[in-house]
Amino acid sequence: MEVRVFRNAEEIGQYASKIICDYVNANPSCVLGLATGASPVPTYSAMIAEYEAGRVSFKNVRTFNLDEYCDLPKEHKNSYYSFMVENLFSKTDINMDNVGFLDGNASEESESKRYAQAIKAAGGIDIQILGIGRNGHIAFNEPSDEFTDEAWKVKLTDSTIEANSIYFDDIPMPRYAMTMGICSIMRAKKIILIATGDSKAQAVRDMINGEVTPHCPASVLQRHGDALILLDEAAASLL
Ligand code: PGA
Repeated sequence: MEVRVFRNAEEIGQYASKIICDYVNANPSCVLGLATGASPVPTYSAMIAEYEAGRVSFKNVRTFNLDEYCDLPKEHKNSYYSFMVENLFSKTDINMDNVGFLDGNASEESESKRYAQAIKAAGGIDIQILGIGRNGHIAFNEPSDEFTDEAWKVKLTDSTIEANSIYFDDIPMPRYAMTMGICSIMRAKKIILIATGDSKAQAVRDMINGEVTPHCPASVLQRHGDALILLDEAAASLL
């Protein structure tokens, strides 16, 4: 694991965006693994700025997102699909035909197979962006007794529901989600995990300094050959 500490979220976004845009310029049809949540937003903003300045094009890039809520229409404003349209897709030249998303309303088994095959057919994920939950989750892989494999349907924990329900003002937050599993995430060639704020400090410490255990799913990244952890000072405060 390589760990870098920055003064604020914007600096992290600039740094992560430069890695991604340089990679896209060198490999225009590369495969990006994308995440939702607050953590990657400054990275997406910086990528949009690079696109607007004419310094990068995403038109041949393929993307796969980590997760999606179940029991929520794809076009609902709180779906992760809508989040990505709003925060990245609609503001760059990403071709929507090249966007891969889990269908939270499909059957778990067939959707898991479909997604694994689609990622494989695309050649695997080159760069995977990740956030981390306060409880150490990555994507929606919550603390549990074993590391998960391919995409699966998860019952969200109280901690995650509490953290995310602030975004749901019209309907109750869904209780289930489809998420890429830990093994599928670990297959990405490069991983960039972003964490900011002191609410993440304990999870960050467990991820970097704790034992590798599914009770802190992010700790598995200690076993990845190319995991880059980008932190602000608050998230790094317990290291
Ligand atoms: P956040 O979520 O980026 O909104 O903090 C990260 C996560 O829960 O995985």
